[in-house]
Amino acid sequence: MMSHRVPVGHRKVSNFVMKTLTALALVATILTDAKPVPHPLTLVSRAVNDSDIYANWPTYDQLPLHPSFPTKAAWGVWGASDELGSLNHIRNVTILAAKSDIQLGRTFNLNLELSMPNPPLNTNRRPLIHAIQPLAGYQDDVITLNTQISTQFDGLRHFPYSTNASQDTYQFYNDLITFDDIMAPSGSSTLGIQNAAQKGIAGRGILLDWAGWMESKNASFDVFNATNISAVELDAVATWQGLDPATFSKPGDFLVVRTGFTKQYLALSSHDQAIVPYREGADAQFLGMEASDAMLRWLWDKKLSLVGSDNPAFESLPSDASIIDGVPRSLHQVFIGGWGLNIVEFLDLEKLTAACHELNRYSFFFTIQNLNVVGGIASPPNAMAIL
Ligand SMILES: *[C@@H]1O[C@H](CO)[C@@H](O)[C@H](O)[C@H]1NC(C)=O
Ligand SMILES: *[C@@H]1O[C@H](CO)[C@@H](O)[C@H](O)[C@H]1NC(C)=O
Ligand SMILES: *[C@@H]1O[C@H](CO)[C@@H](O)[C@H](O)[C@H]1NC(C)=O
Ligand SMILES: *[C@@H]1O[C@H](CO)[C@@H](O)[C@H](O)[C@H]1NC(C)=O
Ligand SMILES: *[C@@H]1O[C@H](CO)[C@@H](O)[C@H](O)[C@H]1NC(C)=O
Ligand SMILES: *[C@@H]1O[C@H](CO)[C@@H](O)[C@H](O)[C@H]1NC(C)=O
Repeated sequence: MMSHRVPVGHRKVSNFVMKTLTALALVATILTDAKPVPHPLTLVSRAVNDSDIYANWPTYDQLPLHPSFPTKAAWGVWGASDELGSLNHIRNVTILAAKSDIQLGRTFNLNLELSMPNPPLNTNRRPLIHAIQPLAGYQDDVITLNTQISTQFDGLRHFPYSTNASQDTYQFYNDLITFDDIMAPSGSSTLGIQNAAQKGIAGRGILLDWAGWMESKNASFDVFNATNISAVELDAVATWQGLDPATFSKPGDFLVVRTGFTKQYLALSSHDQAIVPYREGADAQFLGMEASDAMLRWLWDKKLSLVGSDNPAFESLPSDASIIDGVPRSLHQVFIGGWGLNIVEFLDLEKLTAACHELNRYSFFFTIQNLNVVGGIASPPNAMAIL
């Protein structure tokens, strides 16, 4: 669903159409006529075969499908008008296969208390407001929540691509919407969180305990330092857990990385928690996954439905210094704007991790049920693991 407004990528669209189609008459029409320009993705997208979803699957090196698309975008890979992105990896058969990961019936809440971290780590975000509303003989309560402050599922309206942080250059997944589409009072709901809520997300999760691996080596680390976790290290973590790096993940998996953030943050005094958001400059750092070509290739090859972690952004922060495919990019840009890959952040992995080590088993069944907010940006994931 395209809006009637001229999309952000209008100039690129025109260039692409002109390059691709040699029919001069059509070029003349585009240049001189106010008729809507055809969306490029109707021309450049993969034909998805529902019985064989990985037929014609592009390799990492084949991304993007057209050179006018941004760095490593997977636009068109699930079709030109797709709004689910990497959640498409979850099929009925994927969910059925994950049944075998339920062996004990032990359930694990993966959500922090909704007020945590408190105060929010970004000072532009207000804390949770929870009010009890007493009524005649019964109680209601009212919550006002910035969905980015606590455990969260980042939807596809959260983070577009931009090469230079100029509003002119931002593009959302599949180039389906603009900032104005989101802001307009009667704006479209395209790419809203209701899509993920209505899909209902379940399947196989796989845990990599990077923090546990570091501790096992007596290696020190600080989650308030922009340490970059590489794909090579994640393979080493898998090996330490007794898994084969080549086969530990399956298409459709939810990959979860424990960085040790929750453990270190919750161990701080309330005073020290209160000052975390006010660290400045070089101090405003967080440990996380490295934004790099190598990390993206490693993840793309795994065909993951979701990625998640216990830290603020999955990737290390600040996130604007990495050069990916020659351009400054963050994982957020490529994941959300490019692949339609949702990110689940601030997961509470402590109890699940302890149980996984106790059982020496690192895969689990999981469910995520986002709030069904039409046009929403993000949501508490209401995430649960079952062993
Ligand atoms: C889709 O995949 C199935 C299973 O591989 C195959 O039998 C069928 O011919 C494919 N359809 C198309 C249109 O390619
Ligand atoms: C697969 O699951 C979807 C969503 O729950 C459902 O609509 C569809 O009918 C299922 N397909 C089969 C073959 O059961
Ligand atoms: C960003 O790039 C666009 C397209 O090249 C250009 O029009 C715009 O002026 C740039 N903005 C900034 C702030 O550099
Ligand atoms: C880590 O430190 C503990 C306690 O000092 C020690 O027993 C253990 O051997 C060390 N492990 C490694 C891998 O160095
Ligand atoms: C923070 O990261 C830098 C660069 O990797 C490293 O030299 C330093 O020791 C780290 N500090 C802590 C406390 O981990
Ligand atoms: C992590 O990677 C980013 C991007 O390449 C870089 O700016 C930052 O210095 C790295 N962090 C450390 C601690 O080396």
